[in-house]
Amino acid sequence: MSMKGKDVLDLLSLSPAEVEEIFCLTADLKQKQKAGIAHPLLQGKTLGMIFQKSSTRTRVSFEVGMYQLGGMALFLSANDLQMGRGEPIKDTGRVLSRYLDGIMIRTYAQKDVEELAAWSSIPVINGLTDSHHPCQVLADLFTVREKMGSLKGLKLAFLGDGFNMANSLMEGGARTGMHIVIATPPGYEPKPEIVTRAQQAAQETGGSIVVLNDPREAAAGADVLVTDVWSSMGHEAEHRARLKAFGGYSLNSAMMAIAKPKAMVLHCLPAHRGEEISDELFEAHADEIFEEAENRLHVQKAIMALVM
Ligand code: CP
Ligand code: NVA
Repeated sequence: MSMKGKDVLDLLSLSPAEVEEIFCLTADLKQKQKAGIAHPLLQGKTLGMIFQKSSTRTRVSFEVGMYQLGGMALFLSANDLQMGRGEPIKDTGRVLSRYLDGIMIRTYAQKDVEELAAWSSIPVINGLTDSHHPCQVLADLFTVREKMGSLKGLKLAFLGDGFNMANSLMEGGARTGMHIVIATPPGYEPKPEIVTRAQQAAQETGGSIVVLNDPREAAAGADVLVTDVWSSMGHEAEHRARLKAFGGYSLNSAMMAIAKPKAMVLHCLPAHRGEEISDELFEAHADEIFEEAENRLHVQKAIMALVM
């Protein structure tokens, strides 16, 4: 089974076996990188990186990852492309396919990424939309797998907004047989169609997906606690209202006390201390959180090596 040419638009676009293949190559490339063993799997290849939103981790890890694989990456700010002046996505995709070997895109609407993929003859990787953040969640689950040995049967609780991270965690959990519980304030639940699709997929792997409003019920007995900012990129104007709505959903030592002893804490970053996570809890789990950030590099190298 080859993943060559495959788009990675969300995590249901990968089979459980493909997720496992990504994790195995990630472990191999991480070890090689640390040992200083060259691994030029994409020599002479180029990745275009279209950004319509800000980024620290995604930009740097894709760019450096491509370099470490023997290829190169181009940073393409959406506002500086003709796309920003209205050139259709379907033309952009067809043009870029003539120059590049792969495209990574970070934007707002998932349908724009799908349209780009439909018109591109090269693989398209989703580097975050309002609906999904697949590379992040693969890095998150890889981090858990490294520490816990396997993912199957673990309970992962996400406290926060039913937005991109929650959606990708549900899908990633479904693909790896985890029990995912998403706790959001009323009115901030993930879209029902995404929940239903993930629940159906979870049946294949013996996992489960539950969405509820009680953060303590979610955190109880969890092996992994995950959170994300309350105001994602694009929601800045709603920040005050969101601070109020999300008040009881912080990850802090009280929430930690009801999880399993030695539970892991993950945060995709950037973090807002004192909002979705207390400074104390963040610093107590900083090793895990920054390992998670590092694993973006290794996971994305594996994805690129497999699909490009
Ligand atoms: N976690 C993440 O995607 O970070 P950036 O927004 O910095 O890329
Ligand atoms: N949910 C956040 C994730 C940032 C990496 C956002 O969309 O801004």
